[in-house]
Amino acid sequence: MVMRSSTKFVCQQCGYSQVGWAGKCPSCEAWGSLVETTVSEGRKGRESSRRKDGKAEIVELSNVKSSVLSRISTGILELDRVLGGGLLPGQVILLAGEPGIGKSTLLLQVADKIQAKSVFYVAGEESSNQIKFRATRLGIPGAGINVIEETDVDAVIDQLGTSASIIIVDSIQTLTTEDLSGMAGSIGQVRETASRLASFGKSLGIPVFLVGHVTKEGAVAGPQILSHMVDTVLWFEGDRSQALRILRSVKNRFGPTDEAGIFTMEEKGLVAVSDPSSLFTSNVESVPGQVKTVVLEGTRPLALEIQALAVPTKLPYPRRVLQGVDSRRVELILAVLTRRAGLPLGNFDVFVNAAGGVQVKEPAADLAIALALVSSWANKPLPRSLVAFGEVGLLGEIRAVPQEARRVKEARRLGLRVIVSSAVVKTVGEAIKKF
Ligand code: TYD
Ligand code: MG
Repeated sequence: MVMRSSTKFVCQQCGYSQVGWAGKCPSCEAWGSLVETTVSEGRKGRESSRRKDGKAEIVELSNVKSSVLSRISTGILELDRVLGGGLLPGQVILLAGEPGIGKSTLLLQVADKIQAKSVFYVAGEESSNQIKFRATRLGIPGAGINVIEETDVDAVIDQLGTSASIIIVDSIQTLTTEDLSGMAGSIGQVRETASRLASFGKSLGIPVFLVGHVTKEGAVAGPQILSHMVDTVLWFEGDRSQALRILRSVKNRFGPTDEAGIFTMEEKGLVAVSDPSSLFTSNVESVPGQVKTVVLEGTRPLALEIQALAVPTKLPYPRRVLQGVDSRRVELILAVLTRRAGLPLGNFDVFVNAAGGVQVKEPAADLAIALALVSSWANKPLPRSLVAFGEVGLLGEIRAVPQEARRVKEARRLGLRVIVSSAVVKTVGEAIKKF
């Protein structure tokens, strides 16, 4: 099924191909765009969709039979939720994340929990001893989990045969094929090895998990080129110094892309968090610079704390040190507070944190950030039961945010009674005066 064929260097910009590598594409003159690629002889394509005369088949959509595929539970509810209810036969999933975030841990837990006859764990990164060590730590006995310590993709596929019911590849960046001369992790190798595993999984209806490492900037070639080859891309994120881990689906051919699974990394592996808000909201006495807000993680509301500190600066350019919040939003809020509320924040070093290692990407946290900054600057704590959400506009106006009712409900559930949103205040100035 895997076509062995010749290799060429193909330009990623213009499609020009040649046998040897060159720094610059001789055709379009793009630098470094030639990528080693296998080129198969003859025309490729799904033969099944061709007619006998070689022409493509045309089917009217109303005549296409819809098939209901049953999903396979991974045994980990948070993962099932992100996938849209479980795995589908032949589904190829890329699990991307920074090294050390917990990808191997999550998939070993899947290998243990999934109701599958034989799980194959392709270990390119670690030895079977290291995997055993992790399994012992997680309390996983390992029956039914077959480890293949191999990095040659063709040897791996030969070993998999037809007996695998789920395949886990850790990681795709360690696999190679002898058909290409590039190093493991190079664009050509990553693309070719992933494509061979994907077509193997698809042809036999076996779900395949591919682990892909990314750097902090998400810049490593691997996951980026893979994302359009796979059915589903999951990002595993979190701050390694903290326990919180969030699993997001950023592409899903078979399910939602707005779901998130929330875990904490514990002594004995990843544990699903059923009440995430309780992780991020402390009940200690309120101090200046502390404001609660409600953000949405996928479709779930999550209450968390924004902490800000404003101190007079000694530097010509005041410092802006941010963790877990969007720097452009904070710059905008600072400009609005300076201009519309008359706060001299240009002379202050500003620190803003989202508690617990959460990355807040929503503008809904704007109002909480603004109030936290004002509270720290004025050295005046806000009421403990106050929660704020709303987008701050350039004119200092407060805009409504999506799903306010759900946020209000979550705040009430946690006993936060003073709700500051666009329903209550129209401008930042008004919010400052009122609270
Ligand atoms: P790992 O799954 O190896 O990360 P990745 O495959 O994404 O590189 O997890 C690495 C970290 O997780 C490591 O720093 C140790 C920690 N860890 C725990 O805290 N508890 C555990 O039970 C396990 C297995 C790992
Ligand atoms: Mg790993």
